[in-house]
Formats: sequence, C-alpha cells, structure tokens
Amino acid sequence: MAKKRILSGMRPTGKLHLGNLHGALSNWITLQNHGDYDCYYFVADWHALTSDYATTGEIRANTIEMAIDWLAAGLDPAKSTLFIQSAIKEHAELFLLLCMITPIAWLERNPTYKEMKEELSQKDLSTFGFLGYPVLQAADIIMYKAYGVPVGVDQLPHVELTREIARRFNFLYGEIFPIPEPLIAEVPKLLGMDGRKMSKSYDNAIFMSDRGDDLKNKVGAMFTDPQRQRKSDPGRPELCNVYTFHRLYSTPETVVEIAPACRSASIGCIECKRRLAGAVAEGMGPIHERRDHYVRHPEEIRAIIEDGNLRAGRVAKATLVEVRELMKISHEL
Ligand code: TRP
Ligand code: SF4
Repeated sequence: MAKKRILSGMRPTGKLHLGNLHGALSNWITLQNHGDYDCYYFVADWHALTSDYATTGEIRANTIEMAIDWLAAGLDPAKSTLFIQSAIKEHAELFLLLCMITPIAWLERNPTYKEMKEELSQKDLSTFGFLGYPVLQAADIIMYKAYGVPVGVDQLPHVELTREIARRFNFLYGEIFPIPEPLIAEVPKLLGMDGRKMSKSYDNAIFMSDRGDDLKNKVGAMFTDPQRQRKSDPGRPELCNVYTFHRLYSTPETVVEIAPACRSASIGCIECKRRLAGAVAEGMGPIHERRDHYVRHPEEIRAIIEDGNLRAGRVAKATLVEVRELMKISHEL
C-alpha cells in the first residue's frame, strides 16, 4: 500500500531558533521517522515575497541557512523529499487555476490576513499576492495530494481554506484531491530571553547554531520567575522558562531535583542556568556537528535540494496533467 503523504513548508526566515526546533521541526522529524509516511518538506520562497516583495535581498541566503538547520536537526534526504517551492513551476500554475475558483470573500475573512495587515503596518500589504497567500498554500498542499499537513495552530485557518478549495475543485471538476488534515503536535511553550514568545524579530532568540560562550551568555540572560529577586526568595519552577528548558534538555533526575530545590531556595538561578547551559550545549552537540559538516560541504546541500526538486517535480507534473485534463485546459494540437 502506498504510504500516506505528508507535506509542509516554511518561509525562508534564515537561521532557525530553538522555538522552531522544538515546534515545527521536531514534529516534521517525528513524522519522517515514523515509517508510515512519505514526507515532503519545502522552502516557501514565493510565500516570502507576499510580505517581503520590497526587500528580497536575503531570501537566497536565508533559504540555504534554513536548509542547513533542517539537515542539522535530522531531516534526512534519504527519507524525506526536501525541495524549494520556486523550483517547481507547477505550484504557480495550480495557484493560478485555483485562483479562478476561490471566492474573494473566503480570503478577506481569513483571520491571519486581517491580523498580519495590522501587525505589519509598516509594510504595504494591500497587494493581490498577499490576499492570495492561502490560495498559493492550498496549491502547495493539494499538489502532492497530501493526507496530513503538520503546522502550528497559527496556520489552521490556512489549512481550513485549503480544505474548502479542495472540496470546491472536486465538486466542480472531479474527485481527485484528498481533503488534507492539519496535524497539530503538542509543543512546549518556549519563551525568548526576555520572557516574550521566542522570535527572530524580537531579538530574543537562542539559535540552533548558537554555541560556546554565546550560548552560555544567552542562557545566563534568560528571564526567570519574576518574583524571585534574591537567592533567598523561593521560586516557582512551573512559571520559569529556564525550567521549561530543563525539561527538554536535562536528565529526568536533574529535572526532579531542580523543582524542589528552586521552591525551597536551595538552588540559585545562576547555578540553575549554569547547569542548563551545559545541558543545552550537550544536547545540541550532534546538531552542531551535522551543521559543521554541511557548512563545509555546500555541494552536498545543493545535491540534496536538486534531488528533492526532481522528486517533487515528478509528482507535481503528474498532478497538473490530471488537473488540466479535468479542467479541459490541455490542448493537444
Ligand atoms: N504559511 C506557512 C507559514 O507561514 C508556510 C507554508 C507555505 C506552508 N505553504 C505551506 C505550510 C504548505 C504548510 C503547507 O508557516
Ligand atoms: Fe527558574 Fe531555576 Fe531560578 Fe527556579 S532556580 S526560578 S527554575 S532559574
């Protein structure tokens, strides 16, 4: 029996941080290693243009940086197909065709559209491309007849729209697209050094590539329980971001030891963070080694992406043959 297909993408934001690693990426890797799925993961560089069309200077470098982090984290080209959206022109064709059947009202009521337009008010996002973002995303997904789409909750409205567009296509032209399921994993809520959500744009992130003194200093700068001003104040580990990180990186013994020690003020935050920095450095060790390897061998990255583009392209071409036929838009003259 053919394996169920999984598809997901990320916009090329450059280096990934630990929030990305324990959020989206680890979910992707779990699905890859599960064995029953055929995973397709891609860099959504056309999607980057929807909000950054005026500043495209870093998209290329960001794409490579992100691919390095994917490989370092454990995405394995022998198991997953890794590709770049703009290399598969069929995404643009399917996007165009889906545009024809997507009511504008569906796009205008998309909550992420409204939110992003307000949030990114310094950019002019009153473009056709930005409104059409979810149609391009729908094309990405149904192109591969994906059964499951691992995404964060922020992407749920887009997957919901994809489902509606797929149903509409099936109704109008014939049942060829499975209706994709969003796959939401439980992810730990990791905060940045300043206690806000970890984000590259807040300048509060610990990057996957951070190591040595940089890593130690960042861990040392992390916000702790705000009520714990002095070492003699009892702390509340359940409210402390450092403790959340311990649960990801330290041994179970350390984790059970730290909570009561914090509550009874017998361990200080400086010592607690020192131990965390050591655990993170150790846990990230294999990832850093793989990163070094790929930085030394950019030709391997190129070969991996080229191979992924070929594999994805084969599926995309087959889908478009079907779509053109059903829409009566193939003309053999
Ligand atoms: N919109 C997604 C994000 O911002 C990226 C994306 C583009 C995507 N196409 C996709 C995710 C298809 C899943 C499936 O994170
Ligand atoms: Fe947080 Fe550790 Fe300080 Fe407790 S001792 S408040 S868990 S940093």
